[in-house]
Amino acid sequence: MVPQIVLILLISMAFGVSSIPNASSEITKSRNHNVNMTHVAKSTEEFFPTGRKLGSLKGSRKLESLNESRVVLSGNITILSENNTFELGFFKTNDETKWYLGIWFASVPTPTYVWVANRERPIKNPSLATMEITEDGKLVVKEDSRTIVWETSNLDKAKDVKLLDQGNLVLVSSEGNLVWQSFDFPTDTWLPGMNLTATKWLTSWKSSTDPSQGRYSLRLQPSSYGEIVLVYNGTYPYWSTGNWSENAFVGVPEMTVPYIYKFNFISPFTPMASFGYSEVSLENGMPPPLTRFIVDFTGQIKQFTWFQQAQSWNMFWSQPENLCKTYGLCGNLGFCNSKTLNPCKCLPGFSPLDSDSWDAGDFSGGCRRESNEICSKKDGFEEVGMVSYDGARVVSITGTRSECERECLGNCSCIGLYHNERTKLCKNLYVSLLNLRNLTSDGTIEDKLYVRVQGGGNAQKKQIQGRLLLIEMICGFMVILSVGIGTFLVLKRRRIRKKNKEEEDVFPIMNLKVFSYKELNAATKGFSEKLGHGGFGTVFLGELSDSSLVAVKRLERPGGGEKEFRAEVCTIGNIQHVNLVRLRGFCSENSHRLLVYEYMPKGSLSAYLRRDGQNLSWDVRFRIAVGTAKGIAYLHEECRSCIIHCDIKPENILLDEDFSAKVSDFGLAKLLGRDFSRVLATMRGTWGYVAPEWISGLAITTKADVYSYGMTLLELIGGRRNVEAPTSARGEEGGTEEKWFFPPWAARQIVEGNIAAVIDERLCGMYDVTEAERLGLVAVWCIQDDESMRPSMGMVVKMLEGVVEITMPQPPKLLQALVSGESFHGVGVGSDNGTSRGTSRSGGFSSGYNPQLSTVSRQSQASV
Ligand SMILES: *[C@@H]1O[C@H](CO)[C@@H](O)[C@H](O)[C@H]1NC(C)=O
Ligand SMILES: *[C@@H]1O[C@H](CO)[C@@H](O)[C@H](O)[C@H]1NC(C)=O
Ligand SMILES: *[C@@H]1O[C@H](CO)[C@@H](O)[C@H](O)[C@H]1NC(C)=O
Ligand SMILES: *[C@@H]1O[C@H](CO)[C@@H](O)[C@H](O)[C@H]1NC(C)=O
Ligand SMILES: *[C@@H]1O[C@H](CO)[C@@H](O)[C@H](O)[C@H]1NC(C)=O
Ligand SMILES: *[C@@H]1O[C@H](CO)[C@@H](O)[C@H](O)[C@H]1NC(C)=O
Ligand SMILES: *[C@@H]1O[C@H](CO)[C@@H](O)[C@H](O)[C@H]1NC(C)=O
Ligand SMILES: *[C@@H]1O[C@H](CO)[C@@H](O)[C@H](O)[C@H]1NC(C)=O
Ligand SMILES: *[C@@H]1O[C@H](CO)[C@@H](O)[C@H](O)[C@H]1NC(C)=O
Ligand SMILES: *[C@@H]1O[C@H](CO)[C@@H](O)[C@H](O)[C@H]1NC(C)=O
Repeated sequence: MVPQIVLILLISMAFGVSSIPNASSEITKSRNHNVNMTHVAKSTEEFFPTGRKLGSLKGSRKLESLNESRVVLSGNITILSENNTFELGFFKTNDETKWYLGIWFASVPTPTYVWVANRERPIKNPSLATMEITEDGKLVVKEDSRTIVWETSNLDKAKDVKLLDQGNLVLVSSEGNLVWQSFDFPTDTWLPGMNLTATKWLTSWKSSTDPSQGRYSLRLQPSSYGEIVLVYNGTYPYWSTGNWSENAFVGVPEMTVPYIYKFNFISPFTPMASFGYSEVSLENGMPPPLTRFIVDFTGQIKQFTWFQQAQSWNMFWSQPENLCKTYGLCGNLGFCNSKTLNPCKCLPGFSPLDSDSWDAGDFSGGCRRESNEICSKKDGFEEVGMVSYDGARVVSITGTRSECERECLGNCSCIGLYHNERTKLCKNLYVSLLNLRNLTSDGTIEDKLYVRVQGGGNAQKKQIQGRLLLIEMICGFMVILSVGIGTFLVLKRRRIRKKNKEEEDVFPIMNLKVFSYKELNAATKGFSEKLGHGGFGTVFLGELSDSSLVAVKRLERPGGGEKEFRAEVCTIGNIQHVNLVRLRGFCSENSHRLLVYEYMPKGSLSAYLRRDGQNLSWDVRFRIAVGTAKGIAYLHEECRSCIIHCDIKPENILLDEDFSAKVSDFGLAKLLGRDFSRVLATMRGTWGYVAPEWISGLAITTKADVYSYGMTLLELIGGRRNVEAPTSARGEEGGTEEKWFFPPWAARQIVEGNIAAVIDERLCGMYDVTEAERLGLVAVWCIQDDESMRPSMGMVVKMLEGVVEITMPQPPKLLQALVSGESFHGVGVGSDNGTSRGTSRSGGFSSGYNPQLSTVSRQSQASV
């Protein structure tokens, strides 16, 4: 059977390169960069005028002398797979002196490598490098004519090599048997058709630019073969899918959504276990999107699909969701906080060991003492507080803190200690400290961490103060210098500016004020009062000279040039509607891009969807629903060019003085280089929370906004977020993976006529029943799987206003699969187990997630 499969593969594409020694130079001459398969075949034909045909392996092969090494590719030549999906060749990331043989997506403009051969031994000079089939039938990568940096391990002699359209590089013997394939030696990427087995697993890159083996792997749990785990350094599991159960892993219920992915697990719970996935064609017969899972160098597993419309990879699922759950992310003595933009920081008195890597997002090097002295008896201790840790060698002793400290100071590998004031117990810590993070606030642990720092507190502080003084002096001098230079430049620039001004006036920026950066800096008091932080930038409160309040949005990663920016801003500025936040002006100076909006005194809707947030009356909620719908409908249907918002969510619905709703942030996705993936990343990585067409890579239409509007409507009715952590005030870094997903349950209740169960209980029954029913039904219509079933936004407005009758929708199937799947054994939807807010409402879903299943216990770590 195997030979048959191989034969089919072979027919699909034959790639034979001549055994003539100087073939490589011939090929190099014959084309410049991309090798077109047809072209290769042609050039081989030149060597074999015997009429060998493309796609055939028969015949002439016997004429070749089998013992010679054959060059398959060299230098900057690349090979394309049959349908131009993948490309094989030498590549580098950011270092000119490190080249790798690898496979990447040919049609994707952002380089995306899926496989690397010589991960550990980069090549210095690609012009001498070759990939050859040796005389003993192995595929090798040579740095130059003598040095082999990588070779395959096949026992049977390979005769031929081909790159299949799945991204698999295969070697075949002269009989046409498969003797080796790159899918058996994955790097960090898991493609459709590739299987994870007891011996095949993924290992992350070391950093975003270094393909050598990193610290994190994704593998079958090696003793049970029934679950898939993320492991650190080959030993410590820190995330698990949970055991396989019929058709999905217990901890990944999303797998049951009958979508375009098919997962199959052959022989689970045996050493022969093999887990793979494939893509199913879309209903309309279009090919499914390019897709991949990777184990990121930050230790997360992420799933992406290629989003043609936006020309970007769209990440819609990743685990563990909390970056700080990645084992050892911040390295030795690094402190992790997932709430900040940059998750890792060093403890006081320490600085990054390798600050370049640290700044680039690779924290593995950890932190070291700021002083150069290794250790001294005079060292002091700095209190860090109640934090958790891993990875240290611990020696427990009883005594006062000073006794513990003395003990610690006597050994240079002691890096700190935990002390419990009450029990007088201390634990001295040796060698390394990993996973430092704020303990959950449940207060059961009273141990405080003290880290050893140089020269006993005070002395050190003085030194730092001295250093600061010096730095201040230097800074002062530089300021004086730069002011001088600056004035000179400004004077010079003025003249140029005059010319630009004339250009500016030509631009039809109606009713938009052009602000200078200085003006806005003053208005916001040096960007001091933060109002919020969105996907595109931070928003600050400002007060203009006419004492009107504004919200100033500083764009974080402005894409495109000045001209594009002005054109887009102009488009946005011309869109005005009572339910859209008005743009008052902008600033575009050097690299600064700022937008100035009218200020919305009541903030965003999201603030009212928290338990501890202010309650909104039913009347206000209904007005918000209608107002938001009108605003979006205007964007979709009434302004000159249709605008898809792409990011409808409570954070982007702002409330005016009288609680009327205004949609904000429209037009920005386009303004910032159509970075949809960024938008998605803010939507929590949950399948089913975004419109299904985001995942399938289909074209995004206005109906994607309708879907998000429906989701927002559910949140508004329920007075809660759709994805939500359970009740208690446990610290965000701690404990459970448990979470609830409100929409499937709510949709079912609404369709069954049980709207009262869904309504926010803070309203205490004070709501208009007919309005509530209308809102509920509209929400369910909006979140239909099939976009053609969803109403247009204009229709939504009519439905809400009661102008048209609303028929009964189906509960959305994709979402429903999440709650009714086999992974929710014995938990009836809406079952009354009272785990949620003391009511029966959300219990059904939440109890499907068993926290024990998804958090790996200490014992199992030890046993692996
Ligand atoms: C192969 O190339 C080498 C050096 O480029 C040359 O000396 C030799 O004659 C060539 N052999 C053939 C068969 O073309
Ligand atoms: C490939 O390399 C050859 C010679 O080394 C050079 O002439 C050619 O410009 C290169 N092509 C590309 C696309 O870099
Ligand atoms: C490959 O070559 C064939 C024939 O020369 C041509 O029709 C085809 O467009 C080429 N494909 C690419 C991707 O260059
Ligand atoms: C080719 O290889 C075979 C076996 O590896 C060996 O017996 C034979 O002598 C070799 N022929 C040449 C010309 O090197
Ligand atoms: C390549 O594309 C053609 C036409 O779309 C298709 O028939 C063929 O199956 C594809 N081949 C592979 C290996 O995907
Ligand atoms: C993966 O497993 C499936 C099912 O056993 C099998 O058909 C397929 O050939 C395997 N793929 C590879 C690359 O081994
Ligand atoms: C990783 O594991 C190896 C042995 O398996 C061990 O020698 C090494 O110290 C470990 N590295 C870290 C950073 O834990
Ligand atoms: C320091 O402590 C480590 C770990 O407990 C121990 O192995 C080492 O022998 C100690 N060194 C001295 C000098 O006591
Ligand atoms: C832990 O969290 C608290 C409250 O968020 C914060 O004040 C404290 O600084 C944090 N601890 C550390 C070591 O960052
Ligand atoms: C998975 O099953 C194995 C054996 O069937 C069991 O030992 C293990 O504890 C289970 N894992 C989880 C996370 O429940």
